[in-house]
Amino acid sequence: MNLPSSIEITELGPRDGLQNQKSVITTDTKVAFINALSKTGLRRIEVSSFVNPKWVPQLADAEDVFLNLCRSENVNYTALVPNEHGWNRAMEAGVDEIALMTAVSETFCKRNINTTIAGSIDRMKPLVDSAKANGVGIRGYVSCVVACPYEGEIDAKHVRRVVEQLLDIGVEDISLGETIGVAVPTDIDRLYEALDGILSPEQSILHLHDTHGTALACASFAMQLGVRRFDASSGGLGGCPYAPGAAGNLATEDLVYFANRMGIETGLDLDQLISAVRIIEASLDSPLRGRVYRASSCQDPSS
Ligand code: HMG
Ligand code: MG
Repeated sequence: MNLPSSIEITELGPRDGLQNQKSVITTDTKVAFINALSKTGLRRIEVSSFVNPKWVPQLADAEDVFLNLCRSENVNYTALVPNEHGWNRAMEAGVDEIALMTAVSETFCKRNINTTIAGSIDRMKPLVDSAKANGVGIRGYVSCVVACPYEGEIDAKHVRRVVEQLLDIGVEDISLGETIGVAVPTDIDRLYEALDGILSPEQSILHLHDTHGTALACASFAMQLGVRRFDASSGGLGGCPYAPGAAGNLATEDLVYFANRMGIETGLDLDQLISAVRIIEASLDSPLRGRVYRASSCQDPSS
């Protein structure tokens, strides 16, 4: 098998995971969760979103979470920033890296960020310039790269067009969002084929949701294509408020377990990760569905 010797995981649990929880998670719990994640070997954690709190009330405490974090110097703390207002809030909070967002589907874009795809790219341009001028890292999410919750299947050639626009405005770290978790490896194959010549698997980041239990199969296939950077969420937390029914991201521990068994370095400590998941699960309405986490809970007589 043609596998990478190492992969890099960005932890999205505190943002993508918690943005869609029904129960109220206190700022203290979020901070304890992120502090625990900071001890696992992760190099990048998406902490929260500086979006309109009326749209995503679950993350309305973004400033307080940043203020109370016990920052590790080895970790980049990132946040979702949708516009200039969000940029100002993020800078005030001391964010290391901003995550911008667009989509391949016009309907999703409108529902998610209240603008067109072209409008979202226009919004991003000044943010990219400000981030570069201030030495702040940038990642760009492209949602619905395989399918859209409103428009159905997405033709991969439209993904190419949006990715080209992001590259044109200077976004190099592009996270390809399989927002609703329907993909199988042939979809991932088509996706990278459509991006041939503009975004290589090695350059890209893959963001898989696991609604149908196929995210790990897609990640495994993507690794064989050369993808080395993945987004994941501890315990498989989450979903998107604008993608009804979509489950959380590929669980971080499932990806780490898989990589460990396959001899692929992640730099992460699985036991520490599982401890971090316990902290957040204790404040949720229902158990988390990450497989490795569940298996570890069965083996742990204290849980
Ligand atoms: P809008 O309503 O069009 O904004 O929202 P507006 O500019 O017309 O402003 C309206 C009000 O919002 C004003 O307040 C602004 O001050 C306020 P008012 O005068 O009415 O009191 N406002 C803000 N407040 C705080 N922070 C801000 C901000 N901006 C405006 N940054 C906006 C546009 C983008 C802000 C809105 O649509 C929004 O917040 N959307 C939330 C999107 C979101 O967080 N979605 C979930 C994350 S995306 C995702 O999960 C997918 C991903 O994981 C990848 C994948 O899986 O595919 C990334
Ligand atoms: Mg997502």
